[in-house]
Amino acid sequence: MRQVYLNGRYLPADEACVPVTDRGLLFGDSVYEVIPAYAGAPFRAAEHLDRLQRSLDAIRLPNPMSREAWLEMIGTLCDTCGAVDHSIYIQVTRGAYPGRAHRPPETLRPTVIAFTQPIPERDPRIPEQGIRAITLADIRWHRCDIKSTNLLANVLAQAQALESGADDAIFIRDGIAREGTASNLFIVLDGLLITPPNSDELLPGITRELVLELAREAGIAHAEASIREADLRRAGEIWLTSSTREIAPVVMLDGAPVGDGRPGPRWREMDRLYQAAKQRIRLAARNGDTR
Ligand code: PDD
Repeated sequence: MRQVYLNGRYLPADEACVPVTDRGLLFGDSVYEVIPAYAGAPFRAAEHLDRLQRSLDAIRLPNPMSREAWLEMIGTLCDTCGAVDHSIYIQVTRGAYPGRAHRPPETLRPTVIAFTQPIPERDPRIPEQGIRAITLADIRWHRCDIKSTNLLANVLAQAQALESGADDAIFIRDGIAREGTASNLFIVLDGLLITPPNSDELLPGITRELVLELAREAGIAHAEASIREADLRRAGEIWLTSSTREIAPVVMLDGAPVGDGRPGPRWREMDRLYQAAKQRIRLAARNGDTR
């Protein structure tokens, strides 16, 4: 992270400071987005900005910037990234207010923070070895559709997964598998690709939407349906999807192999389609078409 956008200014990272009274810091009173950019071209920026708007509406915080201003700021940050793939992190807090009143005046000026981070290359072992996951009780609140920065339950679940020798955790609530700690969930069950329907219990992922779109285009049988814990355990394939991790194939669940314990054929097919979609963005960026 070299440069940080803070309230209209581009600053060196070590000069970008927010007051200790910022509501984002004291109350977690803020929402965020993570947008991938391939070869300097943001991917699905409009969809991410739509979701940001829904998060802001849900926490009753007026959007402090116009769509044009967001896109311009994203473009300016992308220009500093060169050809390396990056993610653009955006956070909007309710602003700084001296005091700890739960309900601050509505005249507060929101704080807007944004910066880029390189997206690490995918571990070359993943297509052969996949990743391991554990299941955990979902102790999060009931508005997981809001991309809120209150991520303590996610942080603790991720730590528990790593401590138990796994890479990630899948949240289970009321006997239903919901999503990963920072990803959406797909399974292949009896040949059908299934992901839970959007609801208050999970984040409406942009990658999730893209995977559904690719499945539709490729004629892959799919459904949006609740995934019972028992079905998760007998699934032939399990995937976790996100803007930065793309589609990760889970090969071990709670220490038991998923399918034959290797990334499955449906994952290979979908990963190929996903990589092709990414490549189209890279090529368009090289040709100067960054829409
Ligand atoms: N997280 N579910 C949760 C809880 C998430 O935090 C994320 C993404 C997703 C996938 O959403 P998308 O496909 O739009 O990235 C699902 C981002 C990457 C993060 O917190 O860094």
